[in-house]
Amino acid sequence: MCGIIGYTGKNKASTVLFDSLLNLEYRGYDSAGVAVIDDNKNINTVKTVNRVQSLIQLSENGEKIQGKTGIGHTRWATHGSPDIKNAHPHLSEKFAVVHNGIIENYSLIKKELIKDGFVFKSETDTEVVPFLLEKNYKVSFLESVIKTVQKLSGSFALVILCKDEPDTLIAVKKFSPLIIGFGENENFAASDITAVSNYTQKIAYLDDGEIAVIKPDGIKVYSIEGKLVCKEIKTVSRESLSIDKNGYEHFMLKEIYEQPQAFTKTAEHYLKKGDLSFEASGLDEVIRKIEKIHIVACGSAYHAGLAAKFAFEELSGIEVNVEIASEYRYSFPFISDKTLVIAVSQSGETADTIAALKLAKEKGAYTVAVVNVKNSTISRMCDSVFYTLAGSEIAVATTKGYTTQLCVLSLFALYIARKRNRIETQQLHKFIEEIKYVPLKMTEVLYMAEDIKNLAYKTVINSSVFFIGRNTDYAISQEASLKLKEISYIHSESYAAGELKHGTISLIEEGTTVFAVCCNKDLEDKMISNIKEVRARGAFVISVAQVGDKNIGGISDKIFYLPRTNRLFSPLIHIVFFQLLSYYIALKKDCDIDKPRNLAKSVTVE
Ligand code: G6P
Repeated sequence: MCGIIGYTGKNKASTVLFDSLLNLEYRGYDSAGVAVIDDNKNINTVKTVNRVQSLIQLSENGEKIQGKTGIGHTRWATHGSPDIKNAHPHLSEKFAVVHNGIIENYSLIKKELIKDGFVFKSETDTEVVPFLLEKNYKVSFLESVIKTVQKLSGSFALVILCKDEPDTLIAVKKFSPLIIGFGENENFAASDITAVSNYTQKIAYLDDGEIAVIKPDGIKVYSIEGKLVCKEIKTVSRESLSIDKNGYEHFMLKEIYEQPQAFTKTAEHYLKKGDLSFEASGLDEVIRKIEKIHIVACGSAYHAGLAAKFAFEELSGIEVNVEIASEYRYSFPFISDKTLVIAVSQSGETADTIAALKLAKEKGAYTVAVVNVKNSTISRMCDSVFYTLAGSEIAVATTKGYTTQLCVLSLFALYIARKRNRIETQQLHKFIEEIKYVPLKMTEVLYMAEDIKNLAYKTVINSSVFFIGRNTDYAISQEASLKLKEISYIHSESYAAGELKHGTISLIEEGTTVFAVCCNKDLEDKMISNIKEVRARGAFVISVAQVGDKNIGGISDKIFYLPRTNRLFSPLIHIVFFQLLSYYIALKKDCDIDKPRNLAKSVTVE
C-alpha cells in the first residue's frame, strides 16, 4: 500500500525523502511524489508515474526542490488511475498532503467543497483533505488539522505541510499505520520503520486518533480532542531495519535462501530446552475449553492456515475453519468464548484481517496473533502474540514469511495436542525431531536451484498452468500457484487433484503444463490416476515426489525428487521448490520480481 515519509531537520529534505522512498519501494506502488517548502515559503513538488529514481532525475538531484522540510509518497492507486494528476502530494493554496488509506465520506465532502468554490484536479479521495484544511484554517495549522480530521471517516495516515509554518509537519493516524522517528535536530513521520532506517532507530507508534506535531527540535503528540499525549519511544534493532540485498539479485531470492535460518530461529524460540513453549496468560485454560479454531488471514498467510489445518485437526482433534478475512468479516461466523481465533499476518497491518479480528473479539473469542512485524496493529489487538522470527521481508511475494508462519502454526498445533492430552510424549518428540530437520531439508531443496532454473527456462507455458495435489499437497499447490501468478503474471490454477474432472479438466489441451505435487505416499495411487487423466488429454506433466517414491516418475513427463518428511510438515519444505521455480520463471520473463505490478506488500485498505 501507499508509503509515506515526512522530514523536518538540519539536512536537505529532498535527499532524505528520496532515500526513504527508495526504502519504501518494496511496498509496491504505481506513482510517487515529493513536496518541499523552500526559504520563501513556497511548496515545490515533483511527481512521477515511474520509479522513485526518476523523481531524483526530474528534480535534478533535489536542486529544483530546495528546503529542509518535506513530505514524500509512493502511491498504490485506489481512487483514480495511476497518473500524475492523482499522484501525491495533493495541494491547496497553503497545504500539501500525503495519505495512505481511504476516506470513505470523500464524495460528500467533495460536493460541499465544490459548492464552496474549490476546484478539484484529481480523481482521488485524498484531495478533499488539503481543501478542507484550507477551509478550516482560521487560527493555526494544528487547529485546522484537528477540525479537518473530525470530519473525515474511513482509514487514514496523513502527513501534512503548511506554508505558514515551514519547519513543521503534522501527522495524523486513524486505522492506517504511522510511526514517528526521533533524530538529532531532525525528526520524521513514516508509514513504517524501514523508511527511516538509514536515519534513526528511535521511533514511536502513533495510535488511532493521534496527531503528531513534528519540528526539528522535538515532537508533540495530541489526541483528537487536542490533549497532549505521552508516547513511549522504542529503540528498534538494527536487524529489523536491515534492508540490504546482501549480493542477491533480488530480495525475493535472498529471502528464499534465508528460510533455513529464519525457520531455525523461529522454531528455537518456541522449543525451549527441546520442549514446546507458548507462554501467554490464560492461554492454557482457553486451550482446554475451546471447541473450534478459526484461522483468519489473506493471501499467502491464508495458505499457511490451509496447510496448518491438517496438523491442527489431526493432532489436536479440534475442528478448524480457515477463513479468508475479507469474507469472514462480512459473514456470520459462529463464534463463542469456546472459539480460538488465530490471525495470521506477516505485516500485522492487513486491513481485512484486522476487521475479522475485531468481529471475533466482539463475539467473545480468545484471539491469537501469528505475525512477523513487532508491535504491529494485529499484534497489539490480540490476547496472545506469537511472533514469526523471519526478520524484515521486503519482496512483495512472501516466502520466509509463509514458512515461518507455518512453523509457528505447526508447533502451536503440537502444543495444543499436548495440552489436551491428545499425543503421547514419544510421538510428540518424534514430531519435534522431524521439525528440527526442516532447515536441513529446505537447504537440500535450495541445492536443486540450478536444476529448477533449467526447468524454468525450458518449460513451455501456453496460456495457463495447473497445479494439482491432494491433502497437504493441495495446500502446497495453492501457494505454489499464487507465487507463480504474483511474480510472473502467468495465469495458473491450483486444483484439488480429484476435483479437476468436475469441470476444469476441459481446459487441459495438447501441451498444457501441469505440475503434480505427489509428496503424500498414502494418496499416491489417487495421484497416479489424476496424472493419467490429464496426460490422456495432452498435458505435459511435471511432478514432484519424495525421494524413494518411484511410481510417479514413470507416468510423468518430468520428475523431481524432494526430501522425505512427515506429510504434516511437507509444505514447509516442498514449497521451497515452487518458490524457486516461480522466481526463475519470472526472471526469464524479465519481470519486476520484488515489486510485481498492481501488488502491495502490506494491504492497509479494504
Ligand atoms: C498482500 C501480499 C501477499 C500477502 C497478503 C497478506 O496481498 O501481496 O503476499 O500474503 O497481503 O499479507 P499479511 O501481511 O497479512 O501476511
